Amino acid sequence: MNLNASRPLLLIGLTGGIGSGKTTVANRFGALGVPLIDTDLIAHQLTGPGGPAMPAIGAEFGPSVIAADGRLDRDAMRALAFGDPGARKRLEAILHPMIRVETDRQVSAAASSPYAIVVIPLLVESKGPKRFDRIVVVDCPVDTQIERVMKRNGLPRAQVEAILAVQATRAQRLAAADDVVDNGGEPGALQAQVEALHRRYLAFVKDGALLQNPPRERDSQT
Ligand SMILES: Nc1ncnc2c1ncn2[C@@H]1O[C@H](COP(=O)(O)OP(=O)(O)O)[C@@H](O)[C@H]1O
Ligand SMILES: [Mg+2]
Repeated sequence: MNLNASRPLLLIGLTGGIGSGKTTVANRFGALGVPLIDTDLIAHQLTGPGGPAMPAIGAEFGPSVIAADGRLDRDAMRALAFGDPGARKRLEAILHPMIRVETDRQVSAAASSPYAIVVIPLLVESKGPKRFDRIVVVDCPVDTQIERVMKRNGLPRAQVEAILAVQATRAQRLAAADDVVDNGGEPGALQAQVEALHRRYLAFVKDGALLQNPPRERDSQT
């Protein structure tokens, strides 16, 4: 029973450094039927060909950051931001409110589920209001992160290290975590951890719902 129809009873924020395994772990929750809201995916859709953010981005930065097919040219944008430190903030000023609106829409659409997971890569870095009931951090050693991203994106080590340098540290993320998924090992080690968290989250929701019910109803439910 959901007393607040605009969102699931429990909203989990999932984060982790680049290459830690956020997408891999989120997909395992998805396989258990948990609604996933992926802010990275939303950002890509907003800035894809014909994406709703593209008119504002074109007006702000001009045609040089727009690829032939109409998507945001990320390399051109990066190059522009490299010479103009304010550019990143201006891009975020366009994107972040739109990401927020679409995230809220998807959270509302998941309202009948006991809980939902919102994947936010820079959750610990963001200064905004914390609207999650719990934060789960996907964790692995920094060297492992670097190796995975070098392999996944075909990037040189120095470039991966440069990305890591502007993210929160492993210790900062762990300090913000209510729950941790250890992804420093084999992918096979994830399933049991994800299933344990899934059981735990469902139990929280059940307990929460019981507390909100009068005792008589509570008795009749068990
Ligand atoms: N436990 C693991 N062992 C080996 N490779 C992994 C493991 N977990 C994830 N990967 C791989 O590492 C890369 C980064 O994982 P991904 O889930 O994309 O991370 P993120 O979404 O946090 O950037 C991907 O290519 C993924 O397939
Ligand atoms: Mg990912």
